[in-house]
Amino acid sequence: MIEKETHYWTIDPNNIQQENKKIAEAATLLQAGEVVAFPTETVYGLGADATNSDAVAKIFQAKGRPADNPLIVHVAEKAQIKTYVTEIPQIAEKLIDAFMPGPLTVILKSNQKIASIVTAGLDTIAIRIPDHTVARALIEASGRPLAAPSANTSGKPSPTQAIHVFQDLNQKIAGIVDGGEAGVGVESTVVDCTGELPLILRPGGVTKEEMEAVVGEVLVDQALKQSTEQPKAPGMKYNHYEPDAPLHLIQGDTAFFQAQIDQLISESKKVGVIASEELANELQASHIKQIGTRSDLKTIAKHLYDALRFFNEKEIDIILCETFTDQGVGQAIMNRLQKAATKEIKQ
Ligand code: TXA
Ligand code: MG
Repeated sequence: MIEKETHYWTIDPNNIQQENKKIAEAATLLQAGEVVAFPTETVYGLGADATNSDAVAKIFQAKGRPADNPLIVHVAEKAQIKTYVTEIPQIAEKLIDAFMPGPLTVILKSNQKIASIVTAGLDTIAIRIPDHTVARALIEASGRPLAAPSANTSGKPSPTQAIHVFQDLNQKIAGIVDGGEAGVGVESTVVDCTGELPLILRPGGVTKEEMEAVVGEVLVDQALKQSTEQPKAPGMKYNHYEPDAPLHLIQGDTAFFQAQIDQLISESKKVGVIASEELANELQASHIKQIGTRSDLKTIAKHLYDALRFFNEKEIDIILCETFTDQGVGQAIMNRLQKAATKEIKQ
């Protein structure tokens, strides 16, 4: 690929009025059909004008993303959603009212106004409204709906900081808007609203329990539980979130975890450990990345992807990571860890 200079803007999300000039510069590049990375509350997105097929093609090229994996369209306001869909069923309306702006993506029937490269030729479209002042200011300033996947190289952990985007995509995209660390840390929940009941295709920042409190029963794509099923979100079939070293998930007590570390060290392996504060305090290991307390899964989610990238520059042979409950946002955490892992070891 031809290398290009990547513009870099640092924007304070709490002082967005004073950042108009930088937002306008980034928006001008988007209007010109270029690709710009920007912060959202979940992870950084790699945005392009969703109405411009050539612009969207540059996203797939920069990420090395398979063409059959559709993108989420990002809009700034609820009123814009109806522009791109045939109808908004009542259940979708309730979810939109309850969780947007926020880490939820709804799948609705597309009216085909958005370029088919965005939807990978499907008759449905994924739409969300990011809960981030910089993201919404950029969408508004560009005057376009923005197609945006996570701003990482395909297969790598998603970026929760601008530095992660820089590591993967510097000189491959027109710009990076740095708006600080993403707050949620895992991607939006993708929920298919085209059937009778909402169906979670990808667990994420909004939990199943939170949605059920608003709309009653919510289904979960069986493929998330049984690997024999074909997932309904095309992206869920690919390998994902992989650190450079192999990742093993360890399910067991502290002594069991310690025994795994000791065994690898006795084989002269350099071991990296990703663990909660509680476990980290009890383990004997030279390279531990602590990701927060087990009693606050939101903190664990926020630090997860950074931890998966943490050992990349450190010549680690193998990474061992603790497992978590699959309740609440734990469902998204465990989904990402299981996709990133090469092996699960149970006591
Ligand atoms: O939090 C997020 O959702 C982030 C930020 C940047 O907004 N974006 C993100 O996009 O995670 P991406 O492309 O990494 O993941 C989108 C997922 C993929 O699994 C894709 O297959 C699925 O959504 N998807 C998109 N359109 C779909 C459709 N029409 N039907 C089913 N799944 C769809
Ligand atoms: Mg992604």
